[in-house]
Amino acid sequence: MAVEMGPEMMFEFLYNLPGQFEGCLKMDFSKVSGLKKEYANIVVTGLGGSAIGGDILRCYCQSRLRIPMVVNRDYVLPRFVGPDSLVLAVSYSGNTEETLSAYEDAREKGASIIAFTTGGKLAEMAALDSNPVITIPGGLVPRAATGYLFAPLVLVLERLGLVSGASEDLKETVTVLTQLREEIEPGREEDSNRARFIASQLYQRIPVIWGCSSTSEVAAMRWKGQINENAKAPAYFNVFPELNHNEIVGFEVPEDLVKKLAVIILRDPDDHGRITKRIEITKDILQGKVSSVAEVEARGNSFLAKTYSLIYVGDYASVYLAELYGINPTPVQVIDYLKARMAE
Ligand code: PA5
Repeated sequence: MAVEMGPEMMFEFLYNLPGQFEGCLKMDFSKVSGLKKEYANIVVTGLGGSAIGGDILRCYCQSRLRIPMVVNRDYVLPRFVGPDSLVLAVSYSGNTEETLSAYEDAREKGASIIAFTTGGKLAEMAALDSNPVITIPGGLVPRAATGYLFAPLVLVLERLGLVSGASEDLKETVTVLTQLREEIEPGREEDSNRARFIASQLYQRIPVIWGCSSTSEVAAMRWKGQINENAKAPAYFNVFPELNHNEIVGFEVPEDLVKKLAVIILRDPDDHGRITKRIEITKDILQGKVSSVAEVEARGNSFLAKTYSLIYVGDYASVYLAELYGINPTPVQVIDYLKARMAE
């Protein structure tokens, strides 16, 4: 995707994230009403910036949806997909080959399909098959369109009667993010700007981002991806409690490299009490071994407001980190190169 934009554009996209949710709340989803039925399962299929909205949806649905949901990041769909499946095919550009292939697989398996895209081949294929296309605004890079790549998915499920309360949760998300951005936007100096402070901790270090299963897992995944794509730096993520059963052992050697790790723990007031205890013990274990351990606390009440509050701090921190490295956060030349080579 050839979008040429300077570093300041990414800050503008971030500032407008609450506006994306507001825009989605006004969208008309009546075209999906014909797909209301009893489904056996739901699959979101997409890649990269177009797949993470599926992960947010998966985590959101974990305690709300009575049927299984999975996120597929491949050319083919799982074997269980069939006429009783709902497949949400998501591609910002509409031209990602894995997603187009998965769309064809969904069609062959007889699934109900809804496409979410700005256009491209996905929109053409879905229109030819008379499948609903939810058209989202273009002109962004996929990771800057996270509102557009998540909110329509959950609002469609709400429209189909599969989940309830999503609109209200999105409204709370708008309120929380609108307040939060005043504290982390570029005008705020490091001593009162949590995202700038975090970026300064990550500079010249290897970021290790930890979330917690069922609360901040997807936010940790997003932090990692945003550091990779915006700052062009390596980053890794994992979740409690799983990391207490393997990763935590791996902080012994090589000592000089372990000292270069900067750990960020994403916290949620609703984390399980035993997880809270685990985090405290884990911090003790890490003391003196890594460069730093910092925490970021979720804001708001609903899962969506809390998740996006964590994501928002990470998004800004990744752009501040790009600034510290003197890197333009917007282009992702390596992804473009790979896509071009694959098209040869
Ligand atoms: O951030 C990116 O540019 C990528 O992760 C893309 O989202 C990914 O390559 C898939 O492309 P698209 O979102 O257009 O389907």
